[in-house]
Amino acid sequence: MKRVLVATGGGDCPGLNAVLRGIVKRASQERDWEILGSYEAFNGVLREPMELIVLDEKKVSGIHVKGGTIIGTTNKGGPFAWPVKNKDGSWTTVDRSDELLRRLQYQNIEAVINIGGDGSQRISQGLFEKGLNIIGVPKTIDNDLGGTDFTFGFQTAVEIATDAVDKLVTTAESHNRIFILEVMGRDAGWIALHAAVAGGAEICLIPEIPYDINSIVERLHARIHRGRGFAIIVIAEGAKPKGGDVVAEELDEVGYQHKHLGGAASRLKKELKDAGVEEDVRVTILGHLQRGGTPNAYDRILATQFGVKAFELVLEQDYGKMVAYKHPNIVGLPIKEVIATYNTITLDDQLLKTARGIGINLGD
Ligand code: F6P
Repeated sequence: MKRVLVATGGGDCPGLNAVLRGIVKRASQERDWEILGSYEAFNGVLREPMELIVLDEKKVSGIHVKGGTIIGTTNKGGPFAWPVKNKDGSWTTVDRSDELLRRLQYQNIEAVINIGGDGSQRISQGLFEKGLNIIGVPKTIDNDLGGTDFTFGFQTAVEIATDAVDKLVTTAESHNRIFILEVMGRDAGWIALHAAVAGGAEICLIPEIPYDINSIVERLHARIHRGRGFAIIVIAEGAKPKGGDVVAEELDEVGYQHKHLGGAASRLKKELKDAGVEEDVRVTILGHLQRGGTPNAYDRILATQFGVKAFELVLEQDYGKMVAYKHPNIVGLPIKEVIATYNTITLDDQLLKTARGIGINLGD
């Protein structure tokens, strides 16, 4: 029996379960393969006792419609930076990657499929360089991973954000208010841009284009003077004013590797008020609602394609590759190449041009 270990790392994301199901279903068509899931990324392998679970067809039956991940996830630490508490109560990290490899060998693991975002794929590359047979699968609602046209989870997040715009229009229109909707995406404005175009927002602020508050105020005045007393602004959590920085807090969660973004919408509200905007302004932060619930059909399909391809790369022993969608194909790309790039919106992006074409103000 040949064994493949799968792990889901980083923030949860709609479609993770569909990838797991795709891997298991594809593997079940070959003889003598067993798929094991490691609880909470590689923590399941590194914990004592190990927390591994056999993923068979029964276990994954019907899970493609469920959000989250049935094997849990974490965006803290990892095999190269495992958090350890010092005697004085402070925390440090240790490298447990060699131990991870030994433990995998001991479990007779032939190959690993690591499903995760940027941070997880850096771990994949590190382990590949240490000799592990590993395949990466790109996951994130932010759509910010290089190499792939789309990551799964993104389209579901866009739908949720668009639905939020639609709902805010109802109140904005009834009360003649300005609504600011803050969406996720870290340093990439993909969710904001797509939701702004799909939802018909007047203003869209993304990390890639630092905004000028005067441009926004002008646009609002022009709209209000035309007799439309309401406006919708979609702002990405990573948006910043010209010459300014993102709004972020360092979390004191042990092993958490990112700045926690949030508060861009409230800052913008204050900036609008300071600039003399008299209309009522309300802020809505969509937060983790964007990652929750059922994956949409697009993400279920893409995730299933990624799962099937990941297992086929294992069959071909084509390791060190990340599965990617390059329209119209699902391909394998060297993880090393993929993690060297970061997918943000370029100024010549087609959808950005479309947004300008329909008069959306981008804050510049
Ligand atoms: O990367 C996905 C994401 O949802 C980002 O859009 C967001 O900034 C971050 O994760 C939030 O992370 P957490 O769930 O740890 O608060």
